[in-house]
Amino acid sequence: MLYPNELRAHYSHATVQKMVGVERFELPTHCSQSSCATRLRYTPLFVLHTLTNQYALRGGRIILALVAKVNRFIRLILLHLPSFAISFATFKTLCGNNTMTANILDGKAIAAELRQTIKTKVTARIAAGERAPGLAVVLVGQDPASEVYVRNKRRSCEEVGFYSESHDLTANCSQESLLTLIDELNAKDEIDGILVQLPLPDHIDEEAVIERILPTKDVDGFHPYNVGRLTLKMPILRPCTPKGVMTMLDKTGQKLEGMDAVIIGQSNIVGRPMAMELLAKRCTITVCHSRTKDLEQKVRNADLVVAAVGRANFVPGEWIKKGAIVIDVGINRLDTGKLAGDVHFESCKENASWITPVPGGVGPMTIATLLENTLYAAELHSQAD
Ligand code: GUN
Repeated sequence: MLYPNELRAHYSHATVQKMVGVERFELPTHCSQSSCATRLRYTPLFVLHTLTNQYALRGGRIILALVAKVNRFIRLILLHLPSFAISFATFKTLCGNNTMTANILDGKAIAAELRQTIKTKVTARIAAGERAPGLAVVLVGQDPASEVYVRNKRRSCEEVGFYSESHDLTANCSQESLLTLIDELNAKDEIDGILVQLPLPDHIDEEAVIERILPTKDVDGFHPYNVGRLTLKMPILRPCTPKGVMTMLDKTGQKLEGMDAVIIGQSNIVGRPMAMELLAKRCTITVCHSRTKDLEQKVRNADLVVAAVGRANFVPGEWIKKGAIVIDVGINRLDTGKLAGDVHFESCKENASWITPVPGGVGPMTIATLLENTLYAAELHSQAD
């Protein structure tokens, strides 16, 4: 019988047999698959135990080392998790198949800040012996949406310490009576701004009414004189909604110069003055309307989208280019009673870098900007006195 060399060197066959018993041995074969296998097959039990103990010890050490390594790895991951997350987001952005969640342009908060600034200036004006700025708000008829807007404008006036006048005319009032009222307000020293809420009933010529307001009291910025000055990049009183949007865009800190801007809507109140505002910031402007060809493609290419179309959820998220800025001017009442903008907020915010909510976006900014314009008109009137 053959034994491993180390046994043969120290013990006789009889001793080994006595130590471990014959039954502990396997007969050697000449076709062993590996030297290791052969060695084990010929190893007596006590040698086997020693070896096993050594392996167990080494195994234990290996396990301990492995646990320490895993520990170190977990600590490393936890330490670098934030930068890893940022790198991963950047990687995904570069790959171009990510979804991003837009920053919300909080019009409510920006408007509150603006109103606070105005209030402080009004207090300083009065402390300096000047009169409070005065705004006259004229409502013709009982359009429910107009009633809400007018109520909010009147309330905001009081909040910042303005003098305000309310003039509610019946829906069937004559154009002449409205023009006469405007003449009276034009002549009144306490009034710095005149706002006639639009739309007016069909029998009243809107243009004639707007043109009757003194350009220096035209706090809506709708008079052809003020529209012309804005177009020529020498504005005095600027339309409130587009000007409010510019204030919000300023808050993003984004450089607008060179951006492709798409405006959906060509109204005198929003679309056209918005185009002039963005053009003055050196954007390239596309104004879209009901006859525009391939609106979707135009929006898909835009770095900045201003939606003022008056149709709930009109712009779907997949039209928005990754990282584009989305400004929603729409305020639409759904059948459920809830308000919705012109863009589908939930899906658009997945692609946009900045987005305005509805409500709480452009709406509050329009009113705060009306106050800003009225204060500015009051300062102009004070200088002229
Ligand atoms: N109707 C809707 N928006 C406006 C606005 O900004 N000013 C006036 N006067 N009427 C409006």
